[in-house]
Amino acid sequence: VNKVVVPVALADRSYHIHIGSGLMAQAGEMIQPLLTQPRVIIVTDEQVAPHYLKMLETSLGASGIRHDAVIVPAGEGSKSFAEFERLMNKLLALQPDRKLTLIALGGGVVGDLCGFAASVLLRGVEFIQIPTTLLAQVDSSVGGKTGINAPAGKNLIGSFHQPRLVLIDIDTLKTLPDREMKAGYAEIVKYGLIGDRAFFEWLEQYGGDVLLRAPAALTHAIEVSCRAKAAIVAADEREGNQRALLNLGHTFGHALEAETGFSDRLLHGEAVAIGMVMAARLSHQLGMCGQEVESRLVEHLRALAIPASPRDIQTKWSADALCHHFYADKKAEGGTLTFILLKSIGEGIVVKNVDPIPARQVVMEMI
Ligand SMILES: NC(=O)c1ccc[n+]([C@@H]2O[C@H](COP(=O)([O-])OP(=O)(O)OC[C@H]3O[C@@H](n4cnc5c(N)ncnc54)[C@H](O)[C@@H]3O)[C@@H](O)[C@H]2O)c1
Ligand SMILES: [Zn+2]
Repeated sequence: VNKVVVPVALADRSYHIHIGSGLMAQAGEMIQPLLTQPRVIIVTDEQVAPHYLKMLETSLGASGIRHDAVIVPAGEGSKSFAEFERLMNKLLALQPDRKLTLIALGGGVVGDLCGFAASVLLRGVEFIQIPTTLLAQVDSSVGGKTGINAPAGKNLIGSFHQPRLVLIDIDTLKTLPDREMKAGYAEIVKYGLIGDRAFFEWLEQYGGDVLLRAPAALTHAIEVSCRAKAAIVAADEREGNQRALLNLGHTFGHALEAETGFSDRLLHGEAVAIGMVMAARLSHQLGMCGQEVESRLVEHLRALAIPASPRDIQTKWSADALCHHFYADKKAEGGTLTFILLKSIGEGIVVKNVDPIPARQVVMEMI
């Protein structure tokens, strides 16, 4: 097995990300030395369980690890108070003790939900991430943010709780729908844009192979992404300035998602792809970069049939409604706007007090 290991340096909470093919079958061997008690509870969802739960259980069993599983419904709805309560009660019914470890097997929804449960179950137990979507593999499983949604907004209830291990088996992506692959890919492009021009250029050449799940290209793209996120998180675990760079495209994207009701009409990664194009346009209009940043990004996204404009989504957008969401953004401090902008391909910058007029102009031009 060809395996890559990426360290995440967080003092006494440091851990490793293992990336490769066939890792699920080795999960037991890899996890066993990390456990204080040979017992885990797997949290997964109804779509992932039929594909991968057996394989994981077999591997854990072979290493003498006692295991139970709790299966939650697939989809964002599982990050609700109601599902969280149901999960906690199911976990408690299994009579856990504090030395037990939870395993999140699934996409970002399962990772966020299980991570949050681990952070509060018996005042905190350890957890391991086995992400099975590209988005979770390059973004949500790394960094320690966990949480659920509230009626007032997404991810408003949560904690920082670092995993003990992140195990990325790229073979799991074989069953992931292409649309989900592309959505996760947008976050990969983000790492190139905010800090790594050479990686962006590599993606221009090999992005198609990544989406086709060619093992070498896929492993490389996930590795570079995890290294980028790990470096930012290590420098700034709790979101000061640096970590905010990861929000490139997310202020525009979040507004688009909110206006489509956070539904299947627009996946998070698709919103981020479009949002990054809008951020590139705004960067140019504020005189921070040339026009070619936007045009090159659009060309790359179009080549891979990834949405690049609000017009690619079948919806009647309202500029007023979209701009209104900018102020609800977690980054908006006291009614001022913060955007992540681009000075060039490979150089992102956090800009506070952005004039709302050009931001609105970008929205009006592009919808
Ligand atoms: N904690 C963080 O730092 C962070 C960062 C980014 C996103 N997130 C969160 O992540 C969530 C989105 O994650 P996601 O995009 O992975 O969504 P998801 O977990 O809902 O997965 C998408 C769909 O794919 C299915 N699926 C998962 N793995 C599969 C596989 N291998 N084969 C077939 N189907 C599979 C799931 O059942 C689901 O229906 C959001 O709630 C978002 O807030 C968190
Ligand atoms: Zn995102």
